[in-house]
Formats: sequence, C-alpha cells, structure tokens
Amino acid sequence: MSATWLFASGKGGVGKSTLSACLAVLLARAGHSVVLIDADLGLRSQDLFLGLENSIVYDLMDVARGGCPLSDALAEAPSLPNLHLLPAAQFVRAKDLSADRLKKILSLLRKDHEFILIDCPAGLERGLRNVLNAGSKLQTVLVLTPDDLSIRDGERVISLTEEKKLPRPLLIVNRLQNNLIYEKEMHSAATIASLLDLPLLGEIPEDSACTVAQLRHRLVIDYECPAAEALKRISRRLLNEEVPLPNFGTKKPSFFHRWFAPVLLEAKKTDSRINE
Ligand SMILES: Nc1ncnc2c1ncn2[C@@H]1O[C@H](COP(=O)(O)OP(=O)(O)O)[C@@H](O)[C@H]1O
Ligand SMILES: [Mg+2]
Repeated sequence: MSATWLFASGKGGVGKSTLSACLAVLLARAGHSVVLIDADLGLRSQDLFLGLENSIVYDLMDVARGGCPLSDALAEAPSLPNLHLLPAAQFVRAKDLSADRLKKILSLLRKDHEFILIDCPAGLERGLRNVLNAGSKLQTVLVLTPDDLSIRDGERVISLTEEKKLPRPLLIVNRLQNNLIYEKEMHSAATIASLLDLPLLGEIPEDSACTVAQLRHRLVIDYECPAAEALKRISRRLLNEEVPLPNFGTKKPSFFHRWFAPVLLEAKKTDSRINE
C-alpha cells in the first residue's frame, strides 16, 4: 500500500519545500521507503535540503522524456538508503511536464516505495494543474501561513482539487505565533481549518531555527526547537498515530508575550492615528 502526498499552496514561500523535505526524512528515519519528488521545475531546491547538490546527474524531466530509466534519476539521501530524491530539472518550465508522464512515473514509484511526497510549485498555473491531473490517488496537503492572502489563495487550490475530483486536502498551518493569536491579531489554525472546512493535519510555529537550518544547509528537524517538535508530530499523524494538536494561541503566552507586547502597543497607537 502506497500513499502519495502533494504539498501545495497558492502563495509561494509558505514552507512547502521545508516541510516536505523534513517529513520525507522523518518518515524514512521511521523505517519507511520514501521518494521525494521535486516538482518545482526550474526552481530546484530539494537537493540542497537533502545535501545532494553535488550528486544530481539526471532529473525528473530526463525520466519524463525517456532520456534515462527512473532508477538512474533517483538520488539516494546520505546515510538514508530508504529515502530517494527525484530532482527537478533546472532549465525547464513547470508546464513542460505532462500529467500523463508524471502519472506513469508515479505508478512505477508506487511499486517499490511506501510514501511519495511531491513538492509542488506555488501558484495555480500549469505547474500545479499538471501535478493535480496526474491521477486520483493523490492526497493534497495544503500549506498555508495564517494571513488572509495565503488563505484566499488556498481557497483556489481547494477549488482546483474539487474540479479534479481529488480527496479534500489536509491542512498544515505554518508560521503561527502564539502571542499574536492570543491577542486576536492572527488567525489560529483551528479558525482557518473551520473557515476552509478542512481537516487539520498540523500546526507549526514561527521558528528562527528554520532560517538557521536553511543557512547551514541542514534540516530544522535536526535541531531541538518547536518547529522540529511540530514536524515530528505531523509525521506521526501521517503514519496514522493519534497525536494531539498543540492549539497554538489558546494558552496565555509568557515570555514571548512580553517580548511582542510593545510592538502591538505601537501598532495600535499608529492605527488610531491613521483612523483619526
Ligand atoms: N515555521 C517557520 N518559521 C520560520 N521560517 C520558516 C518556517 N517555515 C519556513 N520558513 C522559512 O520560509 C522560507 C520559505 O520556505 P520554503 O520552504 O522555501 O517555502 P515554499 O517552498 O513554500 O516556497 C524559508 O526561508 C524557510 O526557512
Ligand atoms: Mg519551494
């Protein structure tokens, strides 16, 4: 039995690549056979996340065009023989990958691997549409940040999945800030999930460890930090374990609250000046 999750968003920069790389590694570390497909054609990034930037010979488009066998393009992750990357091509555009070819690649991968994670391009254009057209066995994971633009763009991704008759997406809300939610400045993950009528797969807090990890070409799950904890909870949920959600913003923040309170105070003063 194989599962295929595709990580999508309307707005770019919401964390799809970070999350899909980390979850692929966590599932592989849990002993499963995993393939991560970098479908963000022209904007390859997953080779850097997995430390494979010097080992890429063939890519997804080479396989799609019949230029090499699938096995030649699967790059093995360092010290994780059960995790492979199918890298994105660098010099093509997302529309160059046809849904039919991707469908064939997915059905070949499903024979030998338990989990396939697809890091999709942002936006609602051909790139995402081609991936969504690649068959009914796809489970979309919609990644959003808690702002209205991201939510609005997310609604359009949901409509696309409805159009393609795919299962309702699972929702991950990334970059949540406890103190801002508590102060009702930011939507909570539960609010967004009920607004969009989607099951909530995970909540990930804003965490500067993500930036540090990226600068060092490492994965944030290898640091002891709140984002790593959140990702580990999500990976267990993907394996059908029941893991409670943290419900960020429901508890009174202590240290962070004091830290951000002056910013909110200043914002309120500015707002009332503008409204005068
Ligand atoms: N929870 C988080 N806290 C802080 N920064 C984050 C978080 N998640 C992702 N980021 C940062 O956001 C940026 C965009 O992430 P990325 O995974 O490339 O997004 P996408 O693939 O959706 O474009 C990166 O610099 C990443 O380190
Ligand atoms: Mg990306």
